[in-house]
Amino acid sequence: MALHNPLGIEDLLARNAAWARKMEASTPGFFRSLAEQQTPKHLWIGCSDSRVPANEIVGLQPGELFVHRNVANLVQLADLNCLAVVQFAVDVLKIEHIIVCGHYGCSGVRAAFRGERVGLADHWIRPVRDICQDHDHELAALGSDERRLDRLCELNVLRQVRNLLQTQIVHDAWARRQKLAIHPVIYGLQDGLLRQLTPPITESNRAAALPAG
Ligand code: CO
Repeated sequence: MALHNPLGIEDLLARNAAWARKMEASTPGFFRSLAEQQTPKHLWIGCSDSRVPANEIVGLQPGELFVHRNVANLVQLADLNCLAVVQFAVDVLKIEHIIVCGHYGCSGVRAAFRGERVGLADHWIRPVRDICQDHDHELAALGSDERRLDRLCELNVLRQVRNLLQTQIVHDAWARRQKLAIHPVIYGLQDGLLRQLTPPITESNRAAALPAG
């Protein structure tokens, strides 16, 4: 474990060279064929947190997962960055699954919950405070702040999925009968496991799939 041993860029370049050699040795022509095209079937929208590495968690190789990550895995309708990723993934790459992944112990969600000042990110995570307020009865009824935070991390995923469902991108994809399912999931830092928060959301069950709120 190199947790307390900061690595220089030379170390990372050496690791990169070793990785590229290993990949090429196990699958000759791997990089050449990937360079020609990517055909991922999954888009991952997750938190920037270094403990939640998208590809690794779901065992997908380079070329198999299109990824967007930001602090607290938010989908905001005015965020051109996120929307551009979703639009490219759905319209151009024709991905068939969007995984919106939150995680327990999210620092962004915790900062919003506690009203902590973290700087510019305060503005970014402001929508999570709105979720706290919208669900204050449910959260207050839980026995501890730890459980409230866990629940808020789940509610945050569901809210981001709801935002995603409001985009023209998803509406249009379903209107033209494009195959597209959305998966709200949450990751446990403690056990490395993903849990589904609702069944997959598709064009046929979209009205009923999400709990109210
Ligand atoms: Co996080």
